[in-house]
Amino acid sequence: MVQKACIFDLDGVITDTAHYHFLAWQRLAHSLGLPFDEDDNHRLKGVGRMESLDYILAKGTTAYSMDERLALAQQKNEDYKTLIGGITPADILPGIVEALDWLKANNWRIGLASASRNAPQVLASLEITGAFDYVADAGAIPKGKPAPDIFLDVARAFGLPSSQCLGVEDAASGVAAIKAADMFAAGIGDADILAQADIVLPSPEGLVEKVLKPF
Ligand code: G6P
Ligand code: MG
Repeated sequence: MVQKACIFDLDGVITDTAHYHFLAWQRLAHSLGLPFDEDDNHRLKGVGRMESLDYILAKGTTAYSMDERLALAQQKNEDYKTLIGGITPADILPGIVEALDWLKANNWRIGLASASRNAPQVLASLEITGAFDYVADAGAIPKGKPAPDIFLDVARAFGLPSSQCLGVEDAASGVAAIKAADMFAAGIGDADILAQADIVLPSPEGLVEKVLKPF
């Protein structure tokens, strides 16, 4: 049998940390007198920390030095880390454990392609670190989503061509990254926002039957 790989995004796919990113960014934006709503949040899903900060700061007219920007990013990250501090295995979204079990039983490689530098901590809190054969190091990959680099990094680690890899994403930028990597894209969330995906499910429930088995 030909080896296949499933490459997961983390925030918003495996657990609902996308909401915590939203809360932490909104708090920072409001503290600077800048607006931040659900639409902004959708745009920032999958987008790296400094790029996200710059998107928010561009809503105002104040110029910030590099040091000030780093301090603001750190402030957001401290808030975010407090918010994710209480994460437990109960926070794994329905359908994910079933998918991981099925992938393991069927000998697929399992990878993580998250832009978050907090990903290893979140996986540890969810107690699923051991389920992954490879976790991409976001800090070592300069070009973030929608560039394909992080998904290609995982495929390279597995020694597999893109045609054998399936990516799972909740962000439009993430789906764009998977397609740019020439992989099959499963979107989790709103079909209008994730229109570029090959298939969209409202949640990870049904991944095994509707996405993994047919691939
Ligand atoms: C993921 C999330 C983004 C977040 C990015 C960086 O892609 O979807 O909302 O900004 O990771 O996360 P970090 O934890 O490193 O700030
Ligand atoms: Mg995500």
